[in-house]
Amino acid sequence: MRGIVPDLARAAEAIAARGGRLGRPLHVLRETPSTNDEAKHGAKSGAPHGSTWVAEVQTDGRGRQGRAWVSPRGENLLFSVLLRVSCAPARLPWISLVAGLSVLDAARKVAPAADIRIKWPNDVVVASGAGEDRFSKLAGILVETSTTGASVDAVVVGVGVNVHTRVFPEGVAHLATSLACIAPNPLDRAEILADVLAGLDRDVDLVVARGLGVVHARLAERDALLGRRVRSDQGEGIARGIDLDGRLLVERDGERMAWSAGEVHLAAGSLLA
Ligand code: BTN
Repeated sequence: MRGIVPDLARAAEAIAARGGRLGRPLHVLRETPSTNDEAKHGAKSGAPHGSTWVAEVQTDGRGRQGRAWVSPRGENLLFSVLLRVSCAPARLPWISLVAGLSVLDAARKVAPAADIRIKWPNDVVVASGAGEDRFSKLAGILVETSTTGASVDAVVVGVGVNVHTRVFPEGVAHLATSLACIAPNPLDRAEILADVLAGLDRDVDLVVARGLGVVHARLAERDALLGRRVRSDQGEGIARGIDLDGRLLVERDGERMAWSAGEVHLAAGSLLA
């Protein structure tokens, strides 16, 4: 595979060995503007459930809130999975949380000693620092939809996982980490990708059909924000967990609010973005 680093080149093989439905077919790209765009084009042109695009570099990678997602060529995992699931827009946060859990499980497999958590709504972070009062971002998830008229005909789950990068650009260095920074052994992106896809394959249909309750205990156990003071454009308070609709419960002055979207920050003493 020209232009593909060996640890990614055998991704199709690693995925086939898991026997799941996601990652087939697999499109391994040397470069693309954005794997989410590839998947959205795929959705329009009839690509099947599970089709996955993974790239060594993106020239126009994007994150949430209109931010760019920048990753050096050949170092990390940048991929998007096309899910042909029938999913009401209100349930999209469920998919994002389930994708986060599948990244978390794959990351814990290679870095079992690290304290890896889900930061609502769709980041995977690593606790560091005294009292675990600081988190660094390991992965981000961007769920988008492909629509025909008013109906959602496919969901695209875009995932960026920092794998090999050890030195981050000034400005984000204190906010970011990678598996290489926390794992004891050499890392293989093909195996990590295959594990994420296998986890997502196992959980996503269940959650879409039965609700977030199916994975709620796992989310609660790994909730980075639980019990911490948080703030967003919706206010400030203490995070009290994620509800069964995928919303963040926040308590202020004895009253509970449920935040359904947006950017959340730790309110004090934290460098979490
Ligand atoms: C975020 O943390 O804001 C979400 C980041 C999502 C980045 C991934 S990389 C693969 C896929 N393609 C994109 O353009 N974005 C997602």
